[in-house]
Amino acid sequence: MAIGAFDSGVGGLTVHRALVERFPAADLVYLADQANAPYGGRPGEEIVDLTRAGCEQLFDAGCDLVVLACNTASGIALRRLQQTWLPGYRRRKGRALNVLGIIVPTIEAATGLPWEHEAERRGDKVEKLDILAVFSTPATAGSRVYEIEIDKRRQDVAVFSEPCPNLARMIEEGAGADLLAAEIGGHVAALTKRIGRPPDRAILGCTHYEITADLFRVALPPGTPLIHQPQATADALARYLERHPEYDAGKGGGRRFLTTGKPGAQHGLVETFWGAPLSFEAA
Ligand code: DGL
Repeated sequence: MAIGAFDSGVGGLTVHRALVERFPAADLVYLADQANAPYGGRPGEEIVDLTRAGCEQLFDAGCDLVVLACNTASGIALRRLQQTWLPGYRRRKGRALNVLGIIVPTIEAATGLPWEHEAERRGDKVEKLDILAVFSTPATAGSRVYEIEIDKRRQDVAVFSEPCPNLARMIEEGAGADLLAAEIGGHVAALTKRIGRPPDRAILGCTHYEITADLFRVALPPGTPLIHQPQATADALARYLERHPEYDAGKGGGRRFLTTGKPGAQHGLVETFWGAPLSFEAA
């Protein structure tokens, strides 16, 4: 048995790497839906269909647990799939299967509170607001998932989303550092202008952006804390596996990298991030 990680493309590798580090003995399968990337500008129904197809491919490849290493899929599709598709699919397959997302662990890391916590609504004026920037795809920003879920838990945190319509595609295509720095700098400047001051903290709310985390660090005021989504997801998965012994993560240390797109070597930006040559096989 194995654990799968799914993303539209190479961004989920940032989460996958944290899983490899956290679960060295587990059998891990990565699937990039590069034939359909990027997801962030697509209508919600398409994101739901593509995410379901990706999960099925990973279940067929021997996974019992799939981590959606993608904010867009987690924010737009996960609840729908858990409510409408997964129960019947599980019955048909006759085994324990589940799909987990990355937004819950990220919100827990951003608020410092467990997911179950809901703030008491007191209606008092909050004097000091902690400004949290979320850089994400247009689909994630449009869903307002970070604003809604953080506001339920922490009224002293104000979330400002900045949709970055081109950035995931640029990273997927392996754009050069100068182009990426200009794009990221433009978004940080636009958000800062909108808020009226720089944010206090930031979430790179698209897993692709973590590949360019250093460029975000340069564009944001020095020392702005970034909430580290891959780490938060690996920690949450470790807790989930403890609570759910029915899921066996495997023991062979197997690693497979699948793509619905063009198989073969990944470009330099990905290899630099991964720290070694990386080749994908056809899904
Ligand atoms: N990496 C993805 C995310 O976290 C999706 C990017 C895209 O396909 O637009 O949202």
